[in-house]
Amino acid sequence: MVFYEKRSENAFKFYNTANLANYIVNFTFDGNTSCFFVIIFLFQLFFDMKALVLDQVGQDLQLKNISNYEDEEGYILVDVHAAALNHRDVWITKGMYPGIEPPVILGSDGAGFYEGKEVIINPNHLWGDNIKFQSPQYHILGLPTDGTFAEKVKVKKDKIHPKPSHLSFEEAAALPLSGMTAYRALFTKCNLQKGERVLISGIGGGVALFAFQFAIAMGAEVWVTSGSDWKIEKAISMGAQGGINYKTADWKSFSKKTGGFDVVIDSAGGDGFMNLVKLCKPGARICFYGGTRGNINQLNPQIIFWKQLSIFGSTMASDQEFNEMIDFVGEHHIVPVVDSVYSINNANEAFKKMEQGLQFGKIVLKIQ
Ligand SMILES: NC(=O)c1ccc[n+]([C@@H]2O[C@H](COP(=O)([O-])OP(=O)(O)OC[C@H]3O[C@@H](n4cnc5c(N)ncnc54)[C@H](OP(=O)(O)O)[C@@H]3O)[C@@H](O)[C@H]2O)c1
Repeated sequence: MVFYEKRSENAFKFYNTANLANYIVNFTFDGNTSCFFVIIFLFQLFFDMKALVLDQVGQDLQLKNISNYEDEEGYILVDVHAAALNHRDVWITKGMYPGIEPPVILGSDGAGFYEGKEVIINPNHLWGDNIKFQSPQYHILGLPTDGTFAEKVKVKKDKIHPKPSHLSFEEAAALPLSGMTAYRALFTKCNLQKGERVLISGIGGGVALFAFQFAIAMGAEVWVTSGSDWKIEKAISMGAQGGINYKTADWKSFSKKTGGFDVVIDSAGGDGFMNLVKLCKPGARICFYGGTRGNINQLNPQIIFWKQLSIFGSTMASDQEFNEMIDFVGEHHIVPVVDSVYSINNANEAFKKMEQGLQFGKIVLKIQ
């Protein structure tokens, strides 16, 4: 069991300072006792860690000093240098995710050191043997088990992977969860081929931008949607053919202009999903991995069967696809788009930015 002690950033400093004062006082008045406090102080210095804890749904995360974060048989402790947010973390803080059991340290993405080597973490736990779907025991790092928004994280040894050498810790931390989700949606599910025309919806998002970068690397013609014109312009500057604002779209003229799509990748769902279906060419594939805009209420079966469309749901990716994704990123020298890097002390500001959808790419926390 982990012992949580509520402390703000400053309180953490005071905590150590108070112990230092303790030590000095005892050293001055009692040599023997001072030795004891020196040991305690050094122990705390080396074995305590800072972590962002969700104590209660609907509340800000609390930066705490955690004692007794112990090793466990079959697990290793990774020193986390950078961690990245996913929308899942926001859903969890709002209580919009199954199986929330506070207190818990959130965070599925991380990069850091293990035994002096630079590593990134595969957030999968117990995917199972079937690449087609995850096992009933499957879960993701950062709920229900403690995650990467902490100086140390406990993971199975086979879940660490050498950090791609062309990436900084912040870039590498941005990669795992979003990268693997995008990889499976684009390649395993939609079987994207070079030269095909792809639409990526909501390009400001973490997963969407990986799907975008992977599709460009594959030699596809990529178009985007977004709720912000400036994000579309940014995507065009990175190689997109063009885009449309889903808030103000004239879908018919967009369809004419583009000629329709072979592959569509979406995370919004909702009533806007039918617009994506209409943009499909005959024989197209659509994959969605999220439901940000809720239920899809107005699907037209006639359009789907007459165009011979395939619609896939997808979630995360198997360990094998995680490894393939890392190789793909290395081969194509893909650098994750990092929107911003926040100190762990300002993590709640980072959460607010994601909640408001102001980012273009991944929001990263610098842990140490
Ligand atoms: N199943 C899985 O394994 C899995 C994995 C990762 C994520 N997800 C889910 O996928 C979604 C995105 O996750 P993320 O981490 O990439 O989030 P994120 O970085 O916070 O991005 C949010 C995304 O939502 C888009 N969006 C909002 N309203 C939209 C609309 N009406 N139409 C199209 N796009 C819209 C935004 O696009 P703009 O900013 O461009 O407007 C942006 O791409 C979340 O629902 C998340 O839970 C699922």
